[in-house]
Amino acid sequence: MKFTVAVLAGDGVGPEVVEAAIRVGSRAAELGNAAVEWIPGAIGGAAIESDGDPLPESTLSLCRGADAVLLGAVGGPRWSDPNAAVRPEQGLLRIRKAFDLFANLRPVKIFPALAPQAPLRPELLEGVDILFVRELTSGIYFGPRQEENPAGEAWDTMRYSVEEVERVARVAFEAARTRRRHVVSVDKANVLASMRLWRRTISRVARDYPDVGLEHQLVDSFAMQQLTRPRDFDVVVTGNLFGDILSDAAAVLAGSLGMLPSASLNGDGFGLYEPIHGSAPDIAGRKLANPLGTILSVALLFRHSLGLDRLATAIENAVERALDSGARTRDIARGDEPTVTTDGMADVVLESLHL
Ligand code: IPM
Ligand code: MN
Repeated sequence: MKFTVAVLAGDGVGPEVVEAAIRVGSRAAELGNAAVEWIPGAIGGAAIESDGDPLPESTLSLCRGADAVLLGAVGGPRWSDPNAAVRPEQGLLRIRKAFDLFANLRPVKIFPALAPQAPLRPELLEGVDILFVRELTSGIYFGPRQEENPAGEAWDTMRYSVEEVERVARVAFEAARTRRRHVVSVDKANVLASMRLWRRTISRVARDYPDVGLEHQLVDSFAMQQLTRPRDFDVVVTGNLFGDILSDAAAVLAGSLGMLPSASLNGDGFGLYEPIHGSAPDIAGRKLANPLGTILSVALLFRHSLGLDRLATAIENAVERALDSGARTRDIARGDEPTVTTDGMADVVLESLHL
C-alpha cells in the first residue's frame, strides 16, 4: 500500500518533533511493507513568512490530495502582537474548519514508567486511561460574533446547534463501546443556554446507546475530579473551549504536556494529527522538546487514517519500551536524571521498534 501524508511542521519546536516522528513513522512503515510519502507544506507563522497567509491555498490543496495530515505546532512571539491582522493560530483554526474536523480525540494514558515522576501521587495514576472527545469546529472558537468596538467592549459568542452536538456525541458513544462503556459529558448547563442545549442533546443521543452509561458533570467540578479520581473516567465529551483547557490540565496525569497526541477527524475518516502541546518558543531550536506526543500522533494517524493498526500498536509499544528503558527528555526527567535530546529519544524509540 502507498500513502501520502501532508506534513505541516509549523513553528517553534514543531519542525524538530515532526522530524523525529517521521523517522519513527517511516521505519514502522518499512517494517510493515507500507510506503508512506511525507510531503511538506507551510502553516502558521512559517506560512505568514513564506506566503503572507497562515494557511495558503497550496497547503490546502496538498492536504486535499493526501491521505492524512501531520502537524507540529503553530505560533510564537514573533507573531504574537494582539493587534496583528493575521495570526499563526488562524491557520490551525481554518484548517480544522476547512476539513470539518469536528471530533478531536485526545487520549490521556499513563505510561507506568512515568507514574513515579508525575506531580500527582503514583497510586492515584495507576490504570488511568481517559479519552477526551473535544468538539473542535464550533462553540465559542467559531461563534457568529467576534469583535471589539471603539467603546472598549469585545464579544465572543458560544453557539452550538443540535446537529453539531449530536455528531460529536455519537463519536464519543461509539468510542465508549470499544472501551469501558462509560461517557461523562462536561458542560456548564447551570449558567449557559448553549450548554443546556448541549446537555439535552447528549441525553437524547444516549438513548441510542443503552449499553453505555452516561453522566453529566459541570466543568468546574469536573476540572477538580479529573485530577482527584482520574481512574473513574473513560470517555469525556465536551465543547471546544472546555476541551482545550481540560486536556492541558489532564496532561498532568501523563507526566507532561509533551506526551499527549491527538487526532482531529471528520465524518469521512479524514484526519489531522498533532501533539496537544504548543510551539514552546522558549526551547525551540535546541532539541530539548519531547517528541513522544508527535510520535504517538503518528501512531494514531496510522490507525485511524491509514488502517495500519498493527503498525500503530508497534509504535505505541516502542514508546512504552523506550520509557521503560529510562530514556527521558527534560520535561519528564526527575531531578538530576540524565536526559536525551529530541533526536536521542527518537533513536531509543527506533531501537525499540519491532513488529
Ligand atoms: C490546541 C491549541 C489551539 C486551540 C490553539 C493553538 C489555537 O491550544 O490545539 O489545543 O486552542 O485549539
Ligand atoms: Mn490547547
